Amino acid sequence: MESKVIKIALLGLGNVGTGVYKVLENQKDLLVKKIGSQVEIKKILVRDKNKKRSDIVNSELITDNWQEIIQDEEIQIIVEVMGGIEPAKTYILEALEAGKNVVTANKDLLAEYGKDLLNMASLHNKDLAFEASVAGGIPIVRPLKQCLAANNIYEIMGIINGTTNYILTKMTYENLDFDKALEEAKKLGYAEADPTADIEGYDAARKIAILASLAFQSRVSFKDVYVEGITKISTADIEYARELGYVIKLVGIARNVNDNIETRVHPMFLPKDHPLASVNDSFNAVFVRGDAVGEAMFFGRGAGELPTASAVVGDIIDIGRNIIHHSTGRISCTCYNNLNIHPISEVETSYYLRMKVKDKPGVMASIASVFGNHDVSLASVIQKHRTQGKAEIVIVTDIVKEKYLQDALQIIKGLSIIEEISAVIRVGDKN
Ligand code: NAP
Ligand code: HSE
Repeated sequence: MESKVIKIALLGLGNVGTGVYKVLENQKDLLVKKIGSQVEIKKILVRDKNKKRSDIVNSELITDNWQEIIQDEEIQIIVEVMGGIEPAKTYILEALEAGKNVVTANKDLLAEYGKDLLNMASLHNKDLAFEASVAGGIPIVRPLKQCLAANNIYEIMGIINGTTNYILTKMTYENLDFDKALEEAKKLGYAEADPTADIEGYDAARKIAILASLAFQSRVSFKDVYVEGITKISTADIEYARELGYVIKLVGIARNVNDNIETRVHPMFLPKDHPLASVNDSFNAVFVRGDAVGEAMFFGRGAGELPTASAVVGDIIDIGRNIIHHSTGRISCTCYNNLNIHPISEVETSYYLRMKVKDKPGVMASIASVFGNHDVSLASVIQKHRTQGKAEIVIVTDIVKEKYLQDALQIIKGLSIIEEISAVIRVGDKN
């Protein structure tokens, strides 16, 4: 084993970049033992060189000139923690082309251009590691690529957005309404200043696309994922969920159904005894089912300076070991399948429906008849809140194909007895 210094460059010194700097400093001496080499940050790329930075950062390393990094032949690992599509994509491709290894935490980029980036890494026999891109500090990328490689994985379910999990937890256990819970999430730094990607489910969709690609060895992109966020979830739905024995969570789901991939992100009624139902606050968890391992769950912090840095530095250590042992590029793209993506209309699940109807004889019979004509079987019906000739009814269906349910709802919406279809939420299996 040759002993040397591995030089790296950070692209970005925000939340994650600063965390990576701190962890590398704390681990300095141990890294020699863990890798067989020192790791030294040679340059740090930022947008604004004049910004005030943490006192622990050596300001002499900071540059706003990418050329200083890409042309430096000593730099062997580029750590991209800037975010966004461009210039991150160009920098990563240029780095791989120049024979450098790359670590990235950038889910936006991977969920859209993962194939191009991984192909470039393979072409140059370099590593492209991205553990931090899904669920921050929770190890899940490497487990899927390596530790669980013996399995045919047929399902992944995850709570993979901390902001929405925090909001739903506050709405469920402290009766906060959505706006108040979002405000708290912002104050605590979980939600972005513009929280659209979190609350509309796009952040979780990017993460489930990456997980599905790894689990089923077939390329799944952000555009393949059906997405619904949590903005329409009301305290009324949370109350009904409780009464029926469920909790509402924003869940990312990826399934292999007879070699068709289903990927979706939406709010879901999860049975209270489901392993994901008790994952609260800003915690994340990923639940995996494989033919050999059975069920496995990964739980922890899905975001934050140090948890995310834990995953990034883990990747740096792994690549450092590969550099020392001349084995970079050993595990590259694992997408050797080309499976179909199932549209949401083909998904089979059961549903919770809440609607406001006229309170008069024959209403239930009319609704039940439309469902019956579309092969939608009803598991339970609750009627409440009867006032001034109106009533609220809640229906839970048996498992049915989404397109049959949607066709039935289209007809029901047009019935004169219907005031409003207030909520349609998918329900997770009880077993
Ligand atoms: P951040 O706090 O906004 O920091 C971004 C950093 O990148 C800043 O230092 C910024 O420079 C620099 N930067 C941005 N655009 C640049 C450009 N065009 N050229 C040079 N430097 C540029 O972001 P973050 O929260 O650390 O997130 C970084 C990445 O990690 C993202 O891909 C994110 O999705 C991912 N991630 C974050 C978390 C988390 O908990 N935050 C968790 C998992 C994954 P200035 O400082 O000069 O503005
Ligand atoms: N905004 C994300 C979340 C963190 O709330 O989980 C970064 O992945």
